[in-house]
Amino acid sequence: MNTILQDTQKHEAQKLDAQKAAAHVGLLSDTIIVNGGRPLRGRIDVRGAKNLVTKAMVASLLGDTKSVLRDVPDISDVHVVSRLLEIHGVEITGSPESGILVFDPANVAIAQSAEIDALSGSSRIPILFCGPLLHRLGHAFIPDLGGCRIGDRPIDFHLDALRAFGAVVDKLPSGINITAPNGLTGANIELPYPSVGATEQVLLTGVRAKGITELKNAAIEPEIMDLIAVLQKMGAIISIEPNRVILIEGVDSLKGYDHRALFDRNEAASWASAALATKGDIFCVGAKQQEMMTFLNVFRKIGGAFDIEEDGIRFYHPGGDLKPVVIETDVHPGFMTDWQQPLIVALTQAVGTSIVHETVYEDRFGFTEALVEMGADIEVHKNGLEGGYRRVPRRALEQAAVITGPTKLHGADIEVPDLRGGFSHLIAALTAQGQSRVSNVGLISRGYGDFAGKLQKLGADFSFAA
Ligand code: EPZ
Repeated sequence: MNTILQDTQKHEAQKLDAQKAAAHVGLLSDTIIVNGGRPLRGRIDVRGAKNLVTKAMVASLLGDTKSVLRDVPDISDVHVVSRLLEIHGVEITGSPESGILVFDPANVAIAQSAEIDALSGSSRIPILFCGPLLHRLGHAFIPDLGGCRIGDRPIDFHLDALRAFGAVVDKLPSGINITAPNGLTGANIELPYPSVGATEQVLLTGVRAKGITELKNAAIEPEIMDLIAVLQKMGAIISIEPNRVILIEGVDSLKGYDHRALFDRNEAASWASAALATKGDIFCVGAKQQEMMTFLNVFRKIGGAFDIEEDGIRFYHPGGDLKPVVIETDVHPGFMTDWQQPLIVALTQAVGTSIVHETVYEDRFGFTEALVEMGADIEVHKNGLEGGYRRVPRRALEQAAVITGPTKLHGADIEVPDLRGGFSHLIAALTAQGQSRVSNVGLISRGYGDFAGKLQKLGADFSFAA
């Protein structure tokens, strides 16, 4: 009974998340009807990376003057973080539609708990407010976090780092209360795992701490490097040393930044996978080769083709059979965990058996259930797969998916479980013969700006359900 209740609660929570996200970006409805089996062909713009833009927005709290962020995507995560900043007194002008946001942090203050509670569960970003709010106000209250349900999503690395800086962390039933009675002092921190969020936590706290912070086993994703570029523009002194070591020399004050966000490589990889699965041809304006090298190798090995141009990358299916591959997700510069869900749909069309070892998250194959209902042959191994040639060290929490193709996908009623899994459901519905009803599509708008407009541009046959 307990499991059924938990599943029902998870299902209801996902539906609520999806409806909130859909409302943020003005989706006509939370369900779309897709008539699949047509190749996606055309040209779409990929804007700034969700996983940089939301952090750069938080960084504006550290500046004594206004900050300007460019190429901002119109996604619901940006709306959520904007609201979080506003309830802390930041004045925001500009709009995600225009792609430019201006943040004025002159009147930063503690948020009213009722307002901050209203946003609890909407995102994981609130945990990154700790350092900046402690520097400015000496106090922060963080509600329960949200974000994609792809595992436990703990924040122990974040809280241990904050304590190392001298913060006092009180866990309350409604969230976490954090103070810094003696201010924040530089610390030597070694992460148990190169966590993106925990690395950002240390960066956003260390830049204004007294003295030097040495961070070992840091994440070095392109989005982290772009956040360091933002902080350097503000006046921070951050050195990236070999072997994942980041050194931060705390400074007394920072000014606002003017920054154009790097492109969203996860979005570009998702549309590339859609081109492969639907035998299409999609030009992603803004995509760049450097940040996608590992993805491009795998894309080519599967039988996809790409042309690197000055203004973007063309991803297309050149004809012939798609080939199976073995993928191990890893931290950067390995194969991003966010890339595997959309690509698995293309692997259902490959001739042979592929394996995806998911080594970053412990529960990121839930989306494959809907693909199996549509006719895919996918086995999920909850404890991973032993044996075989491995480059990435095996992790206790890892899982594996075995995909055997080619299989004909047929339309089905599918419910989006999370952001990247949701985009996979969309690709599967576009690949399948027949009609599919895809619900909870608001979760897709958390990270894919104007995905409906882009589908229209690419010739997809779909409509919003009444
Ligand atoms: C960021 O999540 C991204 N989200 C994720 O993208 C991305 O998949 C992930 O980094 C890995 O690249 C944002 O940037 C908003 P982690 P984050 O901390 O920071 C464990 C998407 O689809 N861990 O690197 O939460 C954790 O459980 C999203 O855009 C702890 O154990 O990821 C996981 O197993 C999904 N304790 C591993 O580390 C902690 O305190 C990696 O997590 C923190 C993390």
